[in-house]
Amino acid sequence: MKIAVLRETREGEARVALVPGLVGKLRTLGYDVTVEPDAGLGAGHDDDAYVAAGALVSRDAVVGADLVVSVQPPTNALGRLAAGTATLSFLPPNQSMDLIATLATAGVTSFAMELVPRISRAQSMDAMSSQALVAGYRCAIVAAEMLGRFFPLNMTAAGTVPPARVVVLGAGVAGLQAIATAKRLGAVVMAYDVRAAAAEEIRSMGAQAIDLQLDTLDGAGGYAREMTQERAALQRERLTPYIAAADAVITTAAVPGRKAPVLVTRAMVEQMGPGSVVVDMAAETGGNVEGSVAGEVVPIGNAQVWGGSAVASQMAGPASQLYAQNVLNLITLMTREVDGTPAFAPDFEDEIVATSCVVRAGSVVHEPTLAALEGAN
Ligand code: NAI
Repeated sequence: MKIAVLRETREGEARVALVPGLVGKLRTLGYDVTVEPDAGLGAGHDDDAYVAAGALVSRDAVVGADLVVSVQPPTNALGRLAAGTATLSFLPPNQSMDLIATLATAGVTSFAMELVPRISRAQSMDAMSSQALVAGYRCAIVAAEMLGRFFPLNMTAAGTVPPARVVVLGAGVAGLQAIATAKRLGAVVMAYDVRAAAAEEIRSMGAQAIDLQLDTLDGAGGYAREMTQERAALQRERLTPYIAAADAVITTAAVPGRKAPVLVTRAMVEQMGPGSVVVDMAAETGGNVEGSVAGEVVPIGNAQVWGGSAVASQMAGPASQLYAQNVLNLITLMTREVDGTPAFAPDFEDEIVATSCVVRAGSVVHEPTLAALEGAN
C-alpha cells in the first residue's frame, strides 16, 4: 500500500497535505509514504525531515500509488494518475467541472474535502473547519497589524488610550476565531451572523452580538441560507452605523456553493474614520466587501481594505499540521482488513466515505456535479 504526497504548484499555496510528524502513523497503518521533492518546504519541512520520519522522497511518488494526497485539486498529477488510483484533496465541485470530468475519464476515485459531512463523527476529518480556524486567526492578526493603534485599553501615566472597536461579520468557525483573537488582544468586539445559534456563540466568546431585528437564515447542515435582495439591503442599512463606528471590520461570511454575500458596500466603508481597516477574508470567493481585491490592499475612503488570498496558507505550518491530521483521520477510516491484511478499501456504505466521494472508479457520483456535467453535454 502506497501513499503519494504531491508538491503543491498553485500560486500562493504553501501548505502540504502530510507533515513528517504523521508519517509514522501512516506506516503503522501499513502504508509506504512517498513525498515529491520539496513538498513540505513552504510549511517548514525539508525533505530530510520526511526521510527521518520514514518516508521516501521521489519525483515519481505518484507511480504505483494507491492514494495521492494534496491540498489543492491534483491538477499537476493529471496524466500521471493510473486507473484505480484514489485522490484526496480540496476539490470544490462547482468550480472543478473540467477537472472532475478528466479524473473520471482517467478511471480514478476522488474524494473532496469540501464534501466531508458535518456530523460529529466527521469533525476530526473536517478540513473546511480546521483551515477556517487558521484563516480566522490570521484575519484578526492582519487587522491588528494594519491598524496603527492599540487593540487593548491602555491606562498610562501619560493618559488613557481607549481600546479598538472591532466588528466581525460572519461568526462561523473563522469568524468565532477572529472574535476570540481580537478579544485576546483586548479589543472591544461586536459581531453579526444570520444563523439563529450565532448570537449565543458570539456572546460565549465575550463579544457583543449585534441584533439587527431581522429574520434568521438557517440552511441545511449548519450552514446559512442565501438572503433575498430585500433582506440584504435591509441588513446593510442596519449594519451601517456599526461599520461607521468601527476601527476595524473583519468579514468572514459564506454561503455554500455560492458567491460570498456582499455585506458591506463601498458607501458603508466610506463612512469609516481615518486610519480604519477592513479585512475581507472572502475576497477570493467574490468578497463580502464591495471593492475588495484578493491579495491586495485597496484604499476606500479613509479605510485600507485588505482582500484575503489563500489566507490559511499564510500560516502554512499550523494549517498543514491540522490538514494533515484531517487527512490521516480520513485515511484511517478508509483502511480496512481485506482477507486478513490491511488495505486502502473505502467502505462506500459509510456516510462519510459516500458523501465525500465525487468520482468513484471513473464514474461521477456526486449528484449535483453529475447533473451539471450532463446538462453541459
Ligand atoms: P461558512 O464558512 O459556510 O460561513 C461562515 C459564516 O458566515 C456562517 O456562520 C454563516 O452563517 C455566515 N453568513 C452567511 N451569510 C451571512 C450574511 N449574509 N450575514 C452574516 N453572516 C453570514 O460556515 P462555517 O464557518 O463553516 O460554519 C457554520 C456553522 O456550522 C457553525 O455554526 C459551525 O459551528 C457549524 N459546524 C459544524 C461542524 C460539525 O458539526 N462537524 C463542523 C464545522 C462547522
